[in-house]
Formats: sequence, structure tokens, C-alpha cells
Amino acid sequence: MYIFAIESSCDDTAAAVIHVDMCHRINVLSSIVSSQIETHALYGGVVPEIASRAHCEAISHVAREAIQTAGITLSDIGAVAVTFAPGLIGSLLVGVSFAKSLAAVLDVPLIPVNHIEAHVAASYAENPNLEPPYLALVVSGGHTSLYDVSDHITFTEIGGTTDDAAGEAFDKVGRVMGMPYPGGAAMDKLAAVGFLTWDPSKKDALHFPSPAKNDDSLNLSFSGIKTAAINHIHTTRQRLKLEDDAPLPDEIRAEIAAAFTHAVCTGIAKKLDLALKGHKYTSLVMAGGVAANSHLRRHVSEVCEGNGVEFVVPSPKLCGDNAVMTAAQGYHMVRYGLTADSTLNAFASDEGAEEYLTALKKLWR
Ligand code: KG4
Ligand code: ZN
Repeated sequence: MYIFAIESSCDDTAAAVIHVDMCHRINVLSSIVSSQIETHALYGGVVPEIASRAHCEAISHVAREAIQTAGITLSDIGAVAVTFAPGLIGSLLVGVSFAKSLAAVLDVPLIPVNHIEAHVAASYAENPNLEPPYLALVVSGGHTSLYDVSDHITFTEIGGTTDDAAGEAFDKVGRVMGMPYPGGAAMDKLAAVGFLTWDPSKKDALHFPSPAKNDDSLNLSFSGIKTAAINHIHTTRQRLKLEDDAPLPDEIRAEIAAAFTHAVCTGIAKKLDLALKGHKYTSLVMAGGVAANSHLRRHVSEVCEGNGVEFVVPSPKLCGDNAVMTAAQGYHMVRYGLTADSTLNAFASDEGAEEYLTALKKLWR
């Protein structure tokens, strides 16, 4: 079966074609991502209305390129999957409207995919043997959550951040240190430099508060560490008497990136360890843009190894937003008969997504 998918929940317009065989093995035939980052970087963050307009301009080209690269024709497409929630409402509506029209014209099923579930499903594309149940950690610009995935379509949140997402914290601290939006990947590289000299065991080493709540819950909080890092940057600038536009010295930026990254990674690893110890999972799937972070990958891999659990994480190109992940989750949804009709709408919130999919599952059951 050929599945065509669209993802437009934030600032990437993405389309992909996958082929799935009788053994549920996924072959990625194309994955096109048109990024708007350069436009939004001018404003230090995503501007929703600009994002919607850019999706509107890009979507037809991106879709055509995905189909041409896959070497198929429109009549080969067996289903159209689309991210319908959560995300920026104007951005989602562009993708949903496009997918609805295409599914109607081709007279094929339309599959409404939750963006967070899709991030997790990205791993099916590279790990054909991966099967629920497993524990999933989604770390992105908008989410940091732990899910019990009991089957391909049943995700139960069992922990996560009570305020900011990990990606948001990386981006904010990066921005205050003068990095263009989004700063996550640049923070990753800078931390690698900082780790060459920053030693957490030294008495005077810089430390930031852990995002792991000091209790038995699986909850995290990134607002405290974010504020602590920003305050530290401001006080350091004052201490060094830096002019407004003068950057912090490189070694200080690297030290901050290392200490910040260490606190984020060890905090997430601590709660992950707790989740793995309390359950009988055999696999942990990490997903989302921040899952590309090299230091987090190492920390999470160590926790999995310590618990005798298989660690599954997509290659970095499938961690950030893309439509392969939408197609992969779409495939499992269509297997369960979870398809939408022509009234499909987009929802900005997690709650909206959950409500819609719960109603759809009731219809199917
Ligand atoms: O999943 P994603 O592409 O979009 C959302 O659904 O939010 O995640 C984007 C986030 C941004 O905050 C970006 O800075 C972060 O992922 N990110 C990283 C890295 N690469 C992307 N954060 C830390 N280290 C990275 N290497
Ligand atoms: Zn995402």
C-alpha cells in the first residue's frame, strides 16, 4: 500500500510517500521538507500568520515533489494521511484542507494523525521489528512527555513537563546567548565544546537546577532551569561589564551550554529510569526534535542499558518534523479503520486531538 502524507503543524511544510508491505514493513520512497526557519529567525520565533501563508505557498510544490521523487502516480496512492493536531491552527488548516481535497479527488481514505503520535511512529520506518507495548519519550519544541504505548493507536501519558518543553528551554537559552532561532542544534554543538573543560565534579563548577521534580512522580519542569540560566547569563554580562551588543566570551558560552545540557539530560534520564524501573517495558522509543541531541541520546542510551531495555531512536533527519512519521502512524491507523470523513477539522490543542480520536475509536469499536 502506498501512503501519501502531509505535515504542516508548525514551520515546516512536509510531504512524503511510503510503501508498506504485507509484513507491515515500511519503505520510505520520498520525504520532502520545506523549512521556513530563515523567515522566522528574523523574528526570533515562529510567527503564526507568516507560517500559514508560507505553507499555503509551498504545499502544492512540496506535494508534487514528494510524488515525483517516489516515482509513483496519483492513482497509486491508497490513502492520504495528514497531521490534524496539535499545532498552530492556521498552519494545520492548510495541510488538512489540502489533504481533504486530495483524498476526495482520489476517492481514498483520509487519515487524521496526531503530531505527537507521529513523532513516535517515525521509529517504525527504521526499525521494522519495533512493536508495542513500549515506553515513549517525546521531546520537542512543544512537548516533553512520557507515554505508555500499549498498541499502535493507544497512547497514555504517564508523565512529562508541567510547564515548558525541553526544546523551548534550549531555544530560549540559545536566544539569550545570541543564537538564531531555533537554538537547539547550536546548543548541542556548543555544549560538546563546553564538555571538554566543564567538570561537574569540580567544587566551583557551574550547575543549574535539575528539571526532574524531587518526588516519586514522572514529572519534569523546565521553567526553573530556563530562568536560572537566563539570570546567570545576565549577571555574567553585568560582571564582565559587556556592552548591549557584545557577545559573551566563547568559553563562557560553552560552559553555560554544557552545564545547561547536563542538567536537562540528567533530569530527563532520572525520570526515565524511574519509569523503566516501575514497569515491565522491553523497549524505549525516544522521539521529537530534541531527540536529535547527541548528549541526550547518550544519556538515554545509558539508562536503557542499565535497565536491560532496547533503546530505539530515529536517525536525526526523522527526529524533527517530517511527513514520513505522519505516513507511518497513518498506516497503523488505517489498519484499525481509523479514518476521517469530509468534516475533518484541525485542532490546536492536545485535548482537541484526544477528543476527536477518542470519538473516532468509539465508532470503530
Ligand atoms: O519536533 P520538532 O521539529 O518540532 C516540534 O514539534 O516542536 O522540534 C523542534 C525543537 C526545537 O526546539 C529545536 O531547537 C529542537 O527541537 N532541536 C534540538 C536539536 N535539534 C532540534 N534541541 C536540542 N538539540 C538538538 N540537536
Ligand atoms: Zn514536532
